[in-house]
Amino acid sequence: MVDQMQELQDQITKLLESALNQIQAAESTQILQQIRVDYTGKKGQLTQVSKAMKNLSNEEKPQLGQMINYFHREFNQVMASKEEALKAKELQAQLASERIDITLPGRRNFQGSRHIITQTREELENLFLGMGYQIVEGPEVELDSYNFEKMNLPKNHPARDMQDTFYISSEVLMRTHTSPVQARTMEKHDFEKDGPLKMVSPGKVFRRDNDDATHSHQFHQMEGLVVAEKITLADLKGTLTQFAKAFFGQEREIRLRPSFFSFTEPSVEVDVSCFKCGGKGCNICKDTGWIEVLGAGMVHPNVLAMSGIDPEKYSGFAFGVGIDRVAMLKYSIDDIRHFYQNDLRFLSQFKGGQNRC
Ligand code: DAH
Repeated sequence: MVDQMQELQDQITKLLESALNQIQAAESTQILQQIRVDYTGKKGQLTQVSKAMKNLSNEEKPQLGQMINYFHREFNQVMASKEEALKAKELQAQLASERIDITLPGRRNFQGSRHIITQTREELENLFLGMGYQIVEGPEVELDSYNFEKMNLPKNHPARDMQDTFYISSEVLMRTHTSPVQARTMEKHDFEKDGPLKMVSPGKVFRRDNDDATHSHQFHQMEGLVVAEKITLADLKGTLTQFAKAFFGQEREIRLRPSFFSFTEPSVEVDVSCFKCGGKGCNICKDTGWIEVLGAGMVHPNVLAMSGIDPEKYSGFAFGVGIDRVAMLKYSIDDIRHFYQNDLRFLSQFKGGQNRC
């Protein structure tokens, strides 16, 4: 019996010695974990030895117990200090491997911006929103009746020639101007409920033009319409003077020249005093001091009547601005085709404007 006890003691001493050696030699906390399992786990070597306990006498059992406790104390102590050292080492290695090299140049994101036509349209919209107008949209594929007839241009009227367009069928076409939105808006308007009508309507329009520096088969307009009681040409002039000053500069003046549009009477062509030379004469205004910017007039009584508005009671003014045209003037763009060619060298010049997105 004494011999068996001795043997067990020797075994435990050896186990401890080899465990401590292995712990000291371990290179990672993972290996330490494995050593713990190998010695003190359910099937570990110390656990195996302790099973002999049941064969010992009652006097011997505590002796073996003490040996086992001794093993655990030593084992855990050495294990703990080694674990701490290895953990610190592993943390250092992890930090080093995850370090971000902030000296590398970053990857630049290409940032786009709003098209200059969009910027100009928004500038115009904001200007008229500020004067209490609503913004209305109309269809680009339009009925002949709205595009022409309700604009006082009956079938076979010679003025239709100026606006030849793309026909979908004999009664459906690509709208040649934004003016049909006038009729669409007036038809729905209820003066009792809605009060005076004040609207602008920007959008694309189409003509069968041969494209050149100033013509494009597709371009943009913004229609304006005000209808209420006692609207006069003075209201038109005051409004468009505000527009000219806000858009082209506070020193600008406007002048009205007689013109013809079937949907207005009288009709006017609106010129703005030249923003380059201030009126003295230069290449932009072709030495006249004035630049033509839009068409306008007092809404024709026929147009009011066709849209269900009593021309005896109500009167109104209308105007049509070429968005491409005023953008070309404002930013000295010499060819309308630049707007539609998607050349970034052109488009990116308008990134930093006041209407920047
Ligand atoms: N619709 C005309 C065009 O495209 C422009 C225009 C002129 C609109 C006078 C108007 C206006 O509202 O009163 O040529």
